[in-house]
Amino acid sequence: MAYNGGQKAYDAEVASVAQSEERRKKRMKCFAYVAAFAVFQTAIILVFALVVMKVRTPKFRVRSATFDNFDVSTLVTNASFNTRMNAELSVKNANFGRYKYQSSIIEFFYQDYKVGETVVPGGKANFKSTKKFAVSVDLSSANVPGDVLGNELSQHAWIPLTSRATLKGKVTLMLIFKKNKSTSMDCTMNLNISSKQLQDLRCR
Ligand SMILES: *[C@@H]1O[C@H](CO)[C@@H](O)[C@H](O)[C@H]1NC(C)=O
Ligand SMILES: *[C@@H]1O[C@H](CO)[C@@H](O)[C@H](O)[C@H]1NC(C)=O
Ligand SMILES: *[C@@H]1O[C@H](CO)[C@@H](O)[C@H](O)[C@H]1NC(C)=O
Repeated sequence: MAYNGGQKAYDAEVASVAQSEERRKKRMKCFAYVAAFAVFQTAIILVFALVVMKVRTPKFRVRSATFDNFDVSTLVTNASFNTRMNAELSVKNANFGRYKYQSSIIEFFYQDYKVGETVVPGGKANFKSTKKFAVSVDLSSANVPGDVLGNELSQHAWIPLTSRATLKGKVTLMLIFKKNKSTSMDCTMNLNISSKQLQDLRCR
C-alpha cells in the first residue's frame, strides 16, 4: 500500500513536471514567434525606410546628338564653327516615386566660352524610369577668339565641349511625401569635325 501510494505520488509528480515542462515549451515557442515577428517587422520597416523612402538624386545627362548645317573653319589664326545640335537628353529617376522638374536652361561651353544654350522644358520622370527627350541648340564659336580655337584645331580634328544644367524639382514618395531635389548635369564630349559626330561622351 505504502509503496503503491508512493508510486502514485511519484507518478503525479512526474506528470506535473511534464506538464509544466510542456507549458514552458509553449511559452518559449510563443515568445519565439513574437520575437521572430518583431524582427520581421523591424526588417520590413528598415527596408521601407532605407530603400523605398530614400530620396535619390536623379541623373540628368546628354545621351547622344546629331548635327545639322555643319560649318567649320580651321584657319589657325581665325577658326570658327557653327552648327545646329539635336541632342537627346535623359533624366534617370531611381526613386520609388515620380520626379517632377521645372523648366531650366542647358548651356554648352568650349573651355570657358559659352557656345550655346537652350531651354529644357519642365516635365516628369516616372517611378524608377528614365525620361528621354530631344532639344535643339545652335552652337556657335562667336564668343571664342579665332586663334584660341585655331590653335586647338591645329592639334586635333575635334572640338572639346562641356554641357551644364541644373534641374530643380520634387520627388513624390507614396503619393504624398514630397521632397525637393535638384540635379546637375556635367558632361564632357568631343565634336569630331571630320565625322561630324559626337564622341567620348562622359557625364558625371
Ligand atoms: C574670321 O572669319 C570670319 C568668318 O569665319 C570672318 O567674318 C572674319 O572677318 C575673320 N576675321 C579675321 C580677322 O580674319
Ligand atoms: C521647394 O521648392 C519650392 C520651389 O521649387 C520652394 O518654393 C520651396 O520653398 C522648397 N521647399 C523646401 C523645403 O526647400
Ligand atoms: C573622327 O572621325 C573620323 C571619321 O569617322 C575617324 O577616322 C577619327 O578617328 C575620329 N577622331 C577621333 C579622335 O576619334
